[in-house]
Amino acid sequence: MRTIDWVDGAVEIIDQTALPGELRILRLETVPGLIAAIQSLAVRGAPALGVAGAFGVALAARLHAGDPDELATAVDRIEHARPTAVNLARGARRAAALLPRGADAVLAEACAIRDEEVAASEAMAARGADLLVELCGARPRLLTHCNTGGLAAVVLGTALGVVRELHERHVLGGVIASETRPLLQGARLTSWELSRWGIEHRVAVDSAGPFLMARGEVDGVVLGADRICANGDVVNKIGTYAHALGARRAGLPFVVVAPESTVDLETPDGAAVPIEDRGAAEITAWSAAANPAFDITPHDLVTAIVTDRRVIRLDRGDRP
Ligand code: MRU
Repeated sequence: MRTIDWVDGAVEIIDQTALPGELRILRLETVPGLIAAIQSLAVRGAPALGVAGAFGVALAARLHAGDPDELATAVDRIEHARPTAVNLARGARRAAALLPRGADAVLAEACAIRDEEVAASEAMAARGADLLVELCGARPRLLTHCNTGGLAAVVLGTALGVVRELHERHVLGGVIASETRPLLQGARLTSWELSRWGIEHRVAVDSAGPFLMARGEVDGVVLGADRICANGDVVNKIGTYAHALGARRAGLPFVVVAPESTVDLETPDGAAVPIEDRGAAEITAWSAAANPAFDITPHDLVTAIVTDRRVIRLDRGDRP
């Protein structure tokens, strides 16, 4: 099933804040409603955000057809609803480029973006599975972080799509889902998706990742990205950098799986990326808190980036 889609004149999503307790469909009929869903993480994950941005513009094109100022404001708000994943602004802008041709053309473009992400997931799954077997051995035991499944990418997903492909080839040696503090995308969402796919797994607290690697329980790390910079720096969920350090220390491959729509050659390196800082309430009610939602993994810690069109071997000096 598609986790985000256009249905009878509105956007429908699986409400990711309700999982794993409840599988709830949220129908988004207004631009403020769509923006609230993005900001509350009811819809999240870079490729899904790109599709949400494009469908949001399709919604705005219908609702504000006669009011160019209102329409421009709506597009701007959608584009900037969250700062870090390049897909959101990119999806919104790509759909907005069709505004002069009318609302139907905008919707057609948004649907094309959705379909491209579906095709990209399938391409990454095959290419990523081949690479992981090459790098990690015949039955890789993998650690993944955050949620990179169909919830984050319409169907199948990026890194988790690779895990599923290995499972379907009967060569998956095991998978550990890193919990992903503070919002538990790993413990709540990845675990839910793996269970639905019938894939046995374990959840570990984030800080256990590097230790499990050091103890020989993991053959490689596979995860996604919100933005891949021109120099190969990888911006992804907070905690990714620690796993990259753990992998380097243990001599394990660290593989990033992301569609070309996440590769941003206009961003030179990680230092140029606005890192979303989320409220203290997500962490604690009784003290001040720092809550950066993403971190930057320097390119020299990344073995390879797998996209829907290529394998970029950073360990051999390739760059995006
Ligand atoms: O804050 P989130 O849950 O939107 O962060 C998502 C991630 O960091 C994912 O790893 C990334 O978007 C890749 S999704 C295929």
